[in-house]
Formats: sequence, structure tokens, C-alpha cells
Amino acid sequence: MAHDVDVFGGGVAVVTGAGSGIGAGLARRAGALGMTVVVTDVNAATAQATVDAIVAAGGTAEAITVDVSRPEELDRLAETVFDRHGAVRLLINNAGIETVGYTWEVPAARWEATLNINLHGVIHGVRAFVPRMIASGQEAWIGNLSSVGAFGQMPAQTAYTVTKHAVQAFSECLYLEMELKALPIHVSAIVPGLIRTNIFNPEGGEGEPGQSQGHRQAMFAMMRDHGMDLDHGCRLFLQQMAENRFWVHSHPDMSAQIIGGRVKFLAEQTPPMMPDLARQIAVD
Ligand SMILES: NC(=O)c1ccc[n+]([C@@H]2O[C@H](COP(=O)([O-])OP(=O)(O)OC[C@H]3O[C@@H](n4cnc5c(N)ncnc54)[C@H](O)[C@@H]3O)[C@@H](O)[C@H]2O)c1
Repeated sequence: MAHDVDVFGGGVAVVTGAGSGIGAGLARRAGALGMTVVVTDVNAATAQATVDAIVAAGGTAEAITVDVSRPEELDRLAETVFDRHGAVRLLINNAGIETVGYTWEVPAARWEATLNINLHGVIHGVRAFVPRMIASGQEAWIGNLSSVGAFGQMPAQTAYTVTKHAVQAFSECLYLEMELKALPIHVSAIVPGLIRTNIFNPEGGEGEPGQSQGHRQAMFAMMRDHGMDLDHGCRLFLQQMAENRFWVHSHPDMSAQIIGGRVKFLAEQTPPMMPDLARQIAVD
């Protein structure tokens, strides 16, 4: 079995949304393993803080400000990184936002932001980097941030849920495209369960309907009290990617339970079933 350091002990890593949470954790882990890490985020200050942490721990990193909702910024990033550092070995399409609120109450701008960051950011990360990965002729790894939410239904988190179902489908098709073309590019769907990050930060959710606050706070508290330690989760993710797994989990039991529920739902074609959590924290 390959160990993470055998696969990710050198070379270049690019992580989007790496100023916080899972992106920051994966960037730090890649740096600790010996990769040169390109830390990107829409927030320049937090990206730099991640770089500072990697460098303080003896690693090599640089920060580049990138808004993944703008395809041209991902094109520019790919060009800059390949010019400056050569072939990219590890690309993590991680940047994402949560959006809380009933479908018809979420403003158009927040819908667009959620689709553009969570889904189009992943698609255009792949579109920008893969041709250059192919041209380099070197083995490479791509991890796209899916979610356990990619397999279920969650009312009042519809915008987010839609993007995660789509990222999962995108990653499955991308995996098969690599196989069809016999390319040395490994694709993983990274499926976090509950990892302690800022995604439900009560200060976040710009443009969400006003009554979403309670839902956000309840999710934030649940994550704080029951979420997996971030660095532990990120070690698990890179180890599974090093083993060339398509499915990369933080909570395999939780994933299996939710995926099992979906299989049953599809096989029996029941109406959608309300998750217990949805009733507990539903917005007004
Ligand atoms: N934390 C969990 O338990 C969990 C569960 C399932 C899936 N995920 C997924 O993991 C990924 C990371 O989430 P997290 O929990 O670490 O959240 P987080 O809020 O802690 O970090 C997200 C990062 O993305 C950045 N970002 C937001 N918009 C951006 C943009 N337009 N361009 C570039 N960067 C942008 C933010 O500045 C932030 O640094 C997301 O795709 C999320 O859906 C997380």
C-alpha cells in the first residue's frame, strides 16, 4: 500500500479555498509531506496565513489570490503555476460555500454564487489544469470536494446540495474520461462527513434570507461539538488519494449509511424522506 509521503513527498500541489478549513488543512499536510504548495483563496490574507504556517513548519509555499467563480482566474492560475513551478502533481478543487434558505427565498445572486463557486469552480479548475497536466506527461492526482450531502436531500440547503450532487457526478465522469483516454491522472471524490471548519460560520452567508441564522448557528454548533479534527481529516484524505482511491472518506460509516439510504430510495422509488436533522434545524 502506498503511503502519502511516497506519493506526495515532492512535486507541486495547488489547493483552492486554502485560506480556511479543509483547503488549509490539505495545504498544510501537503507542505509537511514535502510538496511545494500553491495556496489559493479569494481572501488574500487568509491564504497568506496558510503559507506562513507551512513555511513556519519548514515547508515551501506561495499564496495566489484566486476567485474560483471566475474561470479566467483559474486559467491564469494554471498558466502561472506551470510557468513558475513546472508540472502540477496534486490539484485539490476545494473552495466552497454553504447556502441556507428555502429555494424561493434565496436571492438570485446567492444562487449564482453557490453554483459558480461550488460547481463551476471545480469544473473550470479541471478545464484549466488538465490540458497542462496531460502535456507534462507526468502522473497527477485531482481531488474534488464532494460531500455526504451529494447522496441525500437537505431542505433549506438546496443550493448547496444541488452543487454537491453535481460535483459527485462530474468527478465520476471525469474518472471515466481518464480511463477512456488511458491518462495517468487519478481522480478522487473527497467525501467529508462532518469536519470542524468555518463553513457554517454565523458571520457568513452574505445574501442569505434573514431567518437562516438559526439554521446556520445550529449547524455551526454541531460541527464545533461533533466535527472531526481538521488535521486528522486531511491526513486521512491525502493517504486515501495516495492509494489511488476514487472514494475518499473522512467518516466511512456515515458515508455508507447515507449512500445506503440513497440506494434504497432509488431502488424503491419512495418519495424523498425528511432527514431527522432537517426538522430539528429547519428555518422558519
Ligand atoms: N467541513 C465539512 O464538514 C464539509 C463537509 C462536506 C463537504 N465539505 C466541502 O469542503 C470544502 C471546504 O469547506 P470547509 O468546510 O473547509 O469551509 P471553510 O468555509 O472553512 O473554507 C472554505 C474556503 O473557501 C474560500 N472561498 C470561498 N469562496 C471562494 C471563491 N469564490 N474563490 C476561492 N475561494 C473561495 C473561503 O475563503 C474559505 O477559505 C467545500 O467544498 C465544502 O463543501 C466540507
